[in-house]
Amino acid sequence: MKKFVISISVISICVIVAAIAFAESPSHDPDAIWKYITKESPYTKWSFWPDHQGMQPGRAPHGPLHKVFVNDRGINSTKPPVQYGTIAVKENYSKSKELKAITVMYKVNGYNPDAGDWFWVKYSPDGKADKFGKPGGCVGCHGTRAKNDFILVHEFN
Ligand code: HEC
Repeated sequence: MKKFVISISVISICVIVAAIAFAESPSHDPDAIWKYITKESPYTKWSFWPDHQGMQPGRAPHGPLHKVFVNDRGINSTKPPVQYGTIAVKENYSKSKELKAITVMYKVNGYNPDAGDWFWVKYSPDGKADKFGKPGGCVGCHGTRAKNDFILVHEFN
């Protein structure tokens, strides 16, 4: 009986630990990331970089206006490279402030060591992934700031 209780407790602890690990970092799959950033840890409750708050003007290809939300791992990273598990979510708006696309960078240990280990996704506003993985466009353009860990709106000093 004692053994049974112990094994049940061990199993429960493993399940809880696995659930916490999962909740902390989604797998690098566009649907899992979408679920994570909209339901498990809604990005709209995350922070802005101190030097990039709220709605800001932007450049091509992302569109004229945007907001960039960053999770705690990113905000707590004081120098590049940022901590694994960092996620930046960028809402891209038209001039008339209509949400057009959501672009995401997710730092995944070992995913793409040649280009900062970032997993990239471009979603439509309803969560359909248009492009994801290591698209040459995302990596190439952001790669001009590899020293700043591919991040363009925030300067690490
Ligand atoms: C031609 C250059 C270019 C390409 C291609 C590009 N980006 Fe960006 N990206 C930018 C610029 C410039 C910014 C800074 C904000 C702005 O001006 O809109 C930015 C900002 C971002 C941010 C906010 C975090 C940061 O780096 O500051 C995310 C997330 C992002 N881009 C994702 C993507 C994804 C995903 C793709 C590919 C589907 C992509 N970008 C392709 C130029 C580019």
